[in-house]
Order: sequence, then C-alpha cells, then structure tokens
Amino acid sequence: MISQVCIACGEKYGIDEIVYSCRKCGDILEIRYDYGLIKEELKKSGWQSLPLSVWRYKDFMPIRNPLNVVSLNEGGTGLYRCRRLGKALGIENLYVKNEGENPTGSFKDRGMTVGVSKALELGIKIVACASTGNTSASLAAYAAKAGLSCIILIPSGGVAFGKLSQAIIYGAKVIQIRGNFDQALKMVVKLSEEHKEIYLLNSINPYRLEGQKTIAFEICDQLNGEPPDRVVVPVGNAGNISAIWKGFTEFNKLGLIKRLPKMVGIQAEGAAPIAKAVKNGKDAIVPIEKPETVASAIRIGAPVSWKKAMKAIKDSGGTAETVTDKEILEAQKLLARYEGLFVEPASASSIAGLKKMLESGEIGKDEVVVCIATGHGLKDPDIVVKMFEKPYEVDAEISSIEKLLGFAFQKT
Ligand code: F0G
Repeated sequence: MISQVCIACGEKYGIDEIVYSCRKCGDILEIRYDYGLIKEELKKSGWQSLPLSVWRYKDFMPIRNPLNVVSLNEGGTGLYRCRRLGKALGIENLYVKNEGENPTGSFKDRGMTVGVSKALELGIKIVACASTGNTSASLAAYAAKAGLSCIILIPSGGVAFGKLSQAIIYGAKVIQIRGNFDQALKMVVKLSEEHKEIYLLNSINPYRLEGQKTIAFEICDQLNGEPPDRVVVPVGNAGNISAIWKGFTEFNKLGLIKRLPKMVGIQAEGAAPIAKAVKNGKDAIVPIEKPETVASAIRIGAPVSWKKAMKAIKDSGGTAETVTDKEILEAQKLLARYEGLFVEPASASSIAGLKKMLESGEIGKDEVVVCIATGHGLKDPDIVVKMFEKPYEVDAEISSIEKLLGFAFQKT
C-alpha cells in the first residue's frame, strides 16, 4: 500500500487524493510505501540491469500505470571524482554529482517526470508552479511533452535569463509577480486551492520529491553500494535535501546500503533561515522577509519543506552552513577551472560550503564527500560575464594578438 502521510500528525491520504497539506493539522505530506512489497518487486524486476536513470527505480515510485510516464530521459547524471579541486581544497575523496546534465539542466527534472506522470494518472489538464527559475523551466518542458497547459508564477526580475527563456519557449503562461519567490508561492498555492482543476507542482507536492530521491539511489549505485560519508546540498525551498535523505533511508531499509551519510545543507548568507536555525540549535526557522543573494535559485526566505530538511540534517547527524556571495562565486570559478564543470551559482554553494567546513575542521579531510551541483552554468550566463574577467579586444591583425599574448618579441 502506498499512501500520503502527514509528517506531523500521521494522518493518511490515498494516493489519488489531491491534497497538498494535511487537512487536520496543516503540515506537509510525504509518500510512504510498504517496503516488504518493494523488496518483493525488486527481486523480480531486474532493475539492476537497467541503465542509470530515474525510472531504473520505478519500483520505488508511486506511479501505477507505466503508460502514464512522461519522460525526457532524466537522471543518470555523472558523479565526477574531483582530484584537482580536491587537492586544492585539501580533500582526497571529493565527488560532484552534476545535475546540470538533466534534460532541462537541473535536478528538477527528476521530480517533474514523476509529478507530471502523476498529473496524467489523475486526469489533470492544467499544472502550475511558482519558481526561482529551474522548477518553471522543468515543469514547462514536461507539461509540453504531456500536452498539458502550464501556468508559471515567478518573481519579477528575480529569474536568470536562461531559465526564463526555457519557460517561454516550452509555451508556459509565464506570470511575473511584483514580489519575491515566497510571495509567488503563496499566490500559486491559493490559485490551486481556489481552482481545483489546477494541479500544483511545487515541492510541497510530495510526488515531486519521489523523483528527486533518485539522486541518492544513483550515488549509491555509482559508488558500488558504498554511500559517502557526507552529502553537501544547496538548500532553497528545502525539498531536495529532504528528498535525497529519503532516498538514502529507503535504500538502507531495503538493505541495499549498510550505513547512512551525514546530510549537510548550505544556504546563502542572505537567505539562510534553515542554516541559521540549525547553527543556533533552534527547532524552528524564523522566515526572512527580504532574502538576498547572487544565487537567485535559492533566494528564498520561507522554505516550505524546512521541517523535513531539519529532520534530515538532525537524523543523519549532519549540519548546515552559510556562505557569502563572494564565496559562492569563487567556488563556481574553482569548479569550472579545476574540473571543467560549469554550474550555476546556487549549485556552487555546495562547494563553497565544503571549502568553509574543511577550513574550520567541521568536515574531515579523510571523509568521502559528494557535493550536489544542482543546475547548469548556462542557466545564468549573465552573472559570469558581469562578475569575471572581461574578454580582450584587439584589431584583426596577427601582430596585435601576438603582442597581447606576449609572443611579439619571441620571433626569429
Ligand atoms: N539549486 C538550484 C539550481 C535550484 O534551482 C534550487 C531550487 C535549489 C538548489 C534548492 O533546492 O528548493 O529543493 O532546496 N530551485 C527552486 C526553483 C526553488 O523554483 O527552481 P530546494
């Protein structure tokens, strides 16, 4: 039996009920399974011979009819051993999971393939979300593939151009809200409450996180069943860190891994309600009214899944850290120049956090660490052109180029 369960009071809802928060206590929901049944399914499904992808793990998914699956070939992203960056940071076993390799360039595709498949299973015609950019790009693509109408609410001027262009070209109805992401999210929740035909696909919808948990499954499979010591995750609305932790615990419940990693959440200093609560030993967050950071993807002041994220950090024995915009941009550069991986600023926050925690000794140099790089650098190219070295400009003469390169006087 699969059900939707309230994380606070345990109230249960059927898998075909459209409900985003508990009708009894108002808290958020998660999907729970009968793991004995999954164990039986896994024995006969031959899943281990399938290629790495979200749907390799279909036995862990709440979709009943495979004909409803809407896929653009998501998941199966590279887990890169980062020897050069590791050496620079002083850690031997550093890996980066490069989620920018997903079809629309971020981890959101893992959630949307499941969320939009669920929408088809429910007979939905209209889907919607609020977004700092990547969720909207992803939902717009999967809605297009499924033939659904798509409504997107974004903070006016708060979304990187690459992401905005994706939502537009996939044909979504894009509405800019004069306000920030948290306000846009409030609006879209209200919209879906008042117009039941609109299906909400923010990460408050627990089906999304079922897809995203496959990040954990893939990491375990890519490391031959040996989980890392730590997983470092950029945190915004806090769904992803919760999903990844759920993935590890499910693999553990099924005996596929013998131990669990510590989860580390990284937030930008100007948008860090969870990291601040964790660092100050508090049980609840204080929302931030006006979140600010160069990493627009995680410019979020009132994360919906904060409770799940704080539980993931606590249950795993992990921690949280804040990083400045300067540290984020420096980390973005290091990852590109040492490893050839171009990620967007929000993604680089995991590297920035790792660097800071290695320096403080909070993470040991002998640990096996996986940083999640959540989205592709081309999502937000403006930031690079604005913040890093400018290209040179010379006349169309070979001597000018040689002069610039310092070759001019080496000629014989
Ligand atoms: N990294 C990137 C690139 C993101 O786009 C997001 C979230 C996160 C990290 C944080 O993940 O919210 O699950 O904690 N982006 C959302 C969006 C909010 O609308 O695209 P989270």
